[in-house]
Amino acid sequence: MEVFKALRRYWLKCIGCGREYPGSSRLYTCPSCGDLLDVVYELGDEVSRIPWLKNYDLRPLGVWRYRELLPIEDYEKIISMNEGGTRLIRCRNLEHELGVREIYVKCEGDNPTGSFKDRGMTIGVTKAIEVGAKTTICASTGNTSSSLAAYSARAGLECVVLVPAGKTALGKLSQAIVHGARVLAIRGSFDDCLQIVKTLSRDKRFYLLNSINPFRLEGQKTAAYEIYEQLSGAIPDRLIIPVGNAGNIVAYWKGFKDLRNLGLINHLPRFVGVQAEGASPIYKAFIKGADEIEPIKDVETAATAIRIGNPVNWKRALKAVRETNGLMDMVSDEEILQAQRILASREGVFTEPAGATPIAFLIKAVREGLIARDERVVCIATGHGLKDPDIIIKSSRKPVEIDASPDHVLQALDAQRKPFKTPSISS
Ligand code: F0G
Repeated sequence: MEVFKALRRYWLKCIGCGREYPGSSRLYTCPSCGDLLDVVYELGDEVSRIPWLKNYDLRPLGVWRYRELLPIEDYEKIISMNEGGTRLIRCRNLEHELGVREIYVKCEGDNPTGSFKDRGMTIGVTKAIEVGAKTTICASTGNTSSSLAAYSARAGLECVVLVPAGKTALGKLSQAIVHGARVLAIRGSFDDCLQIVKTLSRDKRFYLLNSINPFRLEGQKTAAYEIYEQLSGAIPDRLIIPVGNAGNIVAYWKGFKDLRNLGLINHLPRFVGVQAEGASPIYKAFIKGADEIEPIKDVETAATAIRIGNPVNWKRALKAVRETNGLMDMVSDEEILQAQRILASREGVFTEPAGATPIAFLIKAVREGLIARDERVVCIATGHGLKDPDIIIKSSRKPVEIDASPDHVLQALDAQRKPFKTPSISS
């Protein structure tokens, strides 16, 4: 393992004023100007010759396959549950129906706690241990809390999570509870929760693991490396990503830029960030051509995971879509829930509402002629559908209850010839 340690050096760099700080600093934002921090690396020679390193081919697909590009000193001490290595599946039924050449879905619900957050938490919680923290803390719309609770439990750390009261899917809440986190339901929005944990984390007792923590995004960027490998080195024409606090889109952008810096690809996919209509401050700034977002106070969407009005990573999210000749868009709750059912009923992939926003965008974009028919499109399904089963049950016909005999089954089937109406893409 010593050979790996010798390969690279990393430090923190402010995305606003450019000031630099040691990689071992316990900082979330720049002490000088208050902007966010990025992790930058000086890579050793060996890393720049990929496929790199001894035994690389033997490492399973996943976050730690790329350990030379991650800011962890001691690989032996990582807190991991083999996160990443999620399926990238081709959706031939959708390709056929939409008339698009190649459509893939990256199933991030495959991760240990059912969402992409685990990619970041394996790094973030390992860092918490490295800096000697005893308690982790986060604000969450749900998935961050599930993930932080699980990884903190594994690391033997106390975990505190703040969620907006009445607006968190039950599956996510149950995960945070079962992993032993102290869960506080705040009468307020996610943005209120985040403000509180930012204030509390000035106290060294709490180690903050929202996506303002620069180390979390380092884990999340590995999804871009995986897509590159899963497509055998081909670059998607378009990458469609749900956007809430906007950390994940920034992480993918960084991942693809790394691949370019390493000389593995020569251009980036066009990035599309998708917000929910009732929580779309970055989209609004994008269409106005503005350089600042206007935070939205009264956010509302059925995609509770992305019910966020004041996203912290907005600046780099706007840059990611602008620099890749991409765009920000928004979709309505109706479009999101329809897309969720379309993906489930056509391709067998059950993702939560936020994870279906890329499909909702894709359907709309094809209808409006925004996507060329010969494109290779990758949609990121960020979380598993079982996180939020209520939303399906509430909007579906209940199963009919019948007596226990084969005849009753046949009668019931006859009585409802078309029991499950699958939504039509053209409607
Ligand atoms: N999709 C899902 C399923 C999410 O849980 C989130 C964010 C996003 C997309 C958006 O990612 O914030 O990086 O733009 N969930 C956070 C949480 C906010 O607390 O679980 P983002």
